[in-house]
Amino acid sequence: MKRSVYTPGAGHAPRVLAGRDALLRSWRLALAAVAAEGRVRAEDVILSGPRGVGKTVTMTAFGDSAREQGFEVVNLQAVSGQAGLVDSLMEWANTRLAHGDGPWQRARAALERIGGLNFSFAGIGAGVTVGQRGSAGAGEPVRADAGTVAEALSTLAAEVRKDRPQGGVVVTVDEMQAAAGPDLALLAAALHRLNVDHPAAAVMFAGTGLPHIPQVLDDAGVTHPDRLFALEPLSLTLAHDDALYAIVEPARQVGVLWEPAAAERVVAVTNGYPAHLQLFADVVWAQAPGPDAIRSTDVEAALPAASDLLERRTLTPRWDRFTPRQREFVAALAVLGGEAAMPALGHVLDRPAKDLSWLRDELIKSGDIYAPAWGMLRLTVPTFAQYVLAHYDETVPRTTTPVASLATIRARMKAASGDK
Ligand SMILES: Nc1ncnc2c1ncn2[C@@H]1O[C@H](COP(=O)(O)OP(=O)(O)O)[C@@H](O)[C@H]1O
Ligand SMILES: [Mg+2]
Repeated sequence: MKRSVYTPGAGHAPRVLAGRDALLRSWRLALAAVAAEGRVRAEDVILSGPRGVGKTVTMTAFGDSAREQGFEVVNLQAVSGQAGLVDSLMEWANTRLAHGDGPWQRARAALERIGGLNFSFAGIGAGVTVGQRGSAGAGEPVRADAGTVAEALSTLAAEVRKDRPQGGVVVTVDEMQAAAGPDLALLAAALHRLNVDHPAAAVMFAGTGLPHIPQVLDDAGVTHPDRLFALEPLSLTLAHDDALYAIVEPARQVGVLWEPAAAERVVAVTNGYPAHLQLFADVVWAQAPGPDAIRSTDVEAALPAASDLLERRTLTPRWDRFTPRQREFVAALAVLGGEAAMPALGHVLDRPAKDLSWLRDELIKSGDIYAPAWGMLRLTVPTFAQYVLAHYDETVPRTTTPVASLATIRARMKAASGDK
């Protein structure tokens, strides 16, 4: 068929962002309130959730509506071990200045005050000089302080509003959990300083993070992250109708109709997990003869190829990265139905729960499991359980770490249910 209307792959904005209407509405309301009354009305939000649920694309949609309203949107990168958030801000400023962007030009002095940063990487050809602050020697980076960053953002927002009265500044950070601790602390402090010192500034923040982001903020020494940020957890799977809409609507828009049963089948096999929805729908689309309908027979014909692609793209690479102990842990979780509490895991793995906590922490950090509710653990990717059950036993003989077989894990589970 013609060019696919689906958007598999991390961060690819879908034609139809299904099921996030309420979130977008709240965001737009907050933007309007901030544009009207300033920072006092801001609701800084962090979209949290496992990989593939649509954090990045939802944040992108937030950015789009902010831009539509006249806001300047600044996307900062949080890559650990590389440039920090402030470097990223300065690089952004540098690019805008090089384009002769008015508000940035007029806010330049305030931006330069953050400076003292080593600008050489971004300065080439841009003709930008950033003043060294008194105390630092030439070329020596100065650690930006929260007050100066807040002041610069507030000034920039005021300048933006001279051109676009309903605008301001929105700062976004994707994958906050990857940022360095001091960077997160600085970001939080700058937002706090904006609240205290610049209540009229039209500045708002949106970020994303894996489910353990509250813990990350806590570890970074951010005091009361819950008071500073509104945490919006995105569920792993879309509600049934939203999932259906994500499949049917993009096609309908270009004159292709899904047979209802065909779309239902894709929702069923993907559990409505956004990343898989896009991937499956894309494969079906590519293989269906069309030209203006997708039928159940098309879905059935494409399913093996879609499952195969899913395995190769996402499941196998994950599985290959795991250590034997991590595999055993995940296998136990799969045997227990993909979701379990630590004591149950401890039981089927025949180890005290506290011995397993570091494994749990590792897998949470890597985004493979998450805690849907306190004390519970769940596999991030719904179809991973089947994959693990199909592949685990092959890996057991190949490891020198003594791990339990699936049969052993299952026997312990049976014994436990027999105990009751
Ligand atoms: N609400 C949604 N409706 C339709 N597709 C979505 C939705 N949310 C995410 N997707 C798709 O799912 C995939 C993962 O989205 P992404 O934003 O990269 O997830 P995350 O940042 O949480 O890892 C992308 O292919 C994207 O197009
Ligand atoms: Mg993302």
